[in-house]
Amino acid sequence: MSDDLYNDARWLVGAIARGLHARGGVHVEEVLQRLAEQDMTRGDFVEPRSQNLPVTHYFAPSIAETMMLESELAAAIASLDGHLKWLQSKSYTDEILGAGFMENYGWCEIIGPQGFFNGDDFILGLLMLGPHRHYKDHYHPAPELYWPLTGPTKWKQGSSGFEMKQAGEVIYHAPNVHHATKTANRPLLTVWCWTRDTHTPAKLVDA
Ligand SMILES: [Fe+2]
Repeated sequence: MSDDLYNDARWLVGAIARGLHARGGVHVEEVLQRLAEQDMTRGDFVEPRSQNLPVTHYFAPSIAETMMLESELAAAIASLDGHLKWLQSKSYTDEILGAGFMENYGWCEIIGPQGFFNGDDFILGLLMLGPHRHYKDHYHPAPELYWPLTGPTKWKQGSSGFEMKQAGEVIYHAPNVHHATKTANRPLLTVWCWTRDTHTPAKLVDA
């Protein structure tokens, strides 16, 4: 195991925490409080089996865009390029989510069972969506915070319509609220966090 990789993973967690702290708000505080409870010592570190996906084609341009918003965070994410394990939810298909969706979607964990630190019922990761995609209504028991680093993108929850969110704004989804995301002409790179009740995966409403 590499000390450099451990330090880079810690750097990314720190950069996310500092960026979120600067934004503030009740749901951000909840994330930061849960984050502070996680074990992230050298002994807790594991190196995930890295894996890229077609969507990681957008990784470099998304990092370049993030550089304009949060330069330290962008550098910290870039430092882990090639070491992240990009994954997809197993129940998702192009049939449900639209032709080409699976080539334009993926997520990885920084803290979580598939990340660098196992986490205690807590997942902190990154999600990417390619341009012109609609991640349809889905839900899960975990309270969720998104912090998009690129954009603008559109977000919807409950019975309200899609709302435009700029890069850097935070979005909170309460447990089991239906929510959806749309990208326009640019890819989305976002930080995401499930603060508890992480053992039940997301379920699509239409599946
Ligand atoms: Fe979600």
